[in-house]
Amino acid sequence: MTNQPKIAVLLVAAGTGERFGGSMPKQYLPLLGRPLLRWCIDAFRRHSAISAVYTVIHADHQTEYAAAAEGLDLPAPIIGGGTRQESVRRGLEKIAALSKPDFILIHDAARPGISDMLISDICASLQRHDAVIPGLAVADTVRRKTGNAVRTESRDGLYAVQTPQAFRFDTILALHQKYADRSVTDDAALCEFSGPAIHIIHGDRDNFKVTQGGDLGAMEQALSARCGDIRTGSGYDVHKLVPPAGDRKLMICGIDVPHDMVLDGHSDADVGLHAITDALLATICDGDIGMHFSPKDNRWKNADSAKFLRHAADLVAEQQGIITHIDVTIICEAPKIGPQREKMRARIADILAMPTSRISVKATTTEGLGFTGRREGIAAESVVTVRLPFGSRGNVTQDDIRNWGT
Ligand code: CTP
Ligand code: MG
Repeated sequence: MTNQPKIAVLLVAAGTGERFGGSMPKQYLPLLGRPLLRWCIDAFRRHSAISAVYTVIHADHQTEYAAAAEGLDLPAPIIGGGTRQESVRRGLEKIAALSKPDFILIHDAARPGISDMLISDICASLQRHDAVIPGLAVADTVRRKTGNAVRTESRDGLYAVQTPQAFRFDTILALHQKYADRSVTDDAALCEFSGPAIHIIHGDRDNFKVTQGGDLGAMEQALSARCGDIRTGSGYDVHKLVPPAGDRKLMICGIDVPHDMVLDGHSDADVGLHAITDALLATICDGDIGMHFSPKDNRWKNADSAKFLRHAADLVAEQQGIITHIDVTIICEAPKIGPQREKMRARIADILAMPTSRISVKATTTEGLGFTGRREGIAAESVVTVRLPFGSRGNVTQDDIRNWGT
């Protein structure tokens, strides 16, 4: 469609999360396998109405941002300011200098529960309104406390307002510049000074802002509840043991394991990570590791297998899936896996942005029997659990479920 308007997104992620606390800013904390900010980036990037996603970050968070945006081809992050308002203005000014869209959706990175449906509703509303915001009608009785006096207020017409908030780009940029000295907590507030009428559409309960410590657990619940399609995948891999040549190391589950032999293979031959990668691909029925990373391709010569694992996890994330459990068994007489187990768990957790408590690493010998018993090679076997939303791309739909057994 040639007449489709250009709708871009500005994610504001330059805050320091004082109320949330902790050493890592909340927008970079891991949430079901992905940093909070990455949930937002992914939600907007996969939406067909969105032409570009820009992010405003704090100057001190470049490393955290790079980890959260890993593997994505995104515009360079924009450095924010001391307040949310200033961060938004800087973001808008930078976008204006790069490539002006017709409309802009401004979204808090602290709201990773943003759904495809809400993005669609907002974009659809922009056909008829120049300022669109999601809001939830206040359902609780509202009271105001002034000193010791408590009075009931009418909740009629009261809304708790969320983001993304959508505007004509030129209008909201001009408002942010004109009223830079008037302190506001969201962007629609500027339209109240002088600007287009604000249109409220129905928001989403799960699109709440992660503000205090307890909110992260609630967000985990909300996001996992969307994923009722529970998949189990298995993977198996074998590599041959050979004497070390050059600086090749014995890599198992992402760890360099001290031993007098190494594994032979095109990549780093990490048998553990390969088995997990195949198990993940199995959950989304997307072939196997060789199909994605051909052993004939020179790009993968001596490659770090963490890259393969991360790719499989990204494919799961693309389908809005969540990895909830990883189990891997290493089958060999030597080296001993036990002393390396915790390091391996921590490394897999790091690659997948998952808590270590959801990662199991086991080992067994084969009592001297077979090729593993003869120390000719090492085998690994993995079983993983992934939750997907029903009806995501390539998966069964609700209709399929209804028709099951008929
Ligand atoms: N934000 C920003 N620049 C600022 C302050 C906030 O981009 N100077 C962003 C935050 O990163 C967040 C959103 O605005 O995504 C909403 O702000 P809030 O929830 O208040 O986040 P923080 O300011 O980080 O938290 P706190 O107020 O508790 O310090
Ligand atoms: Mg704040």
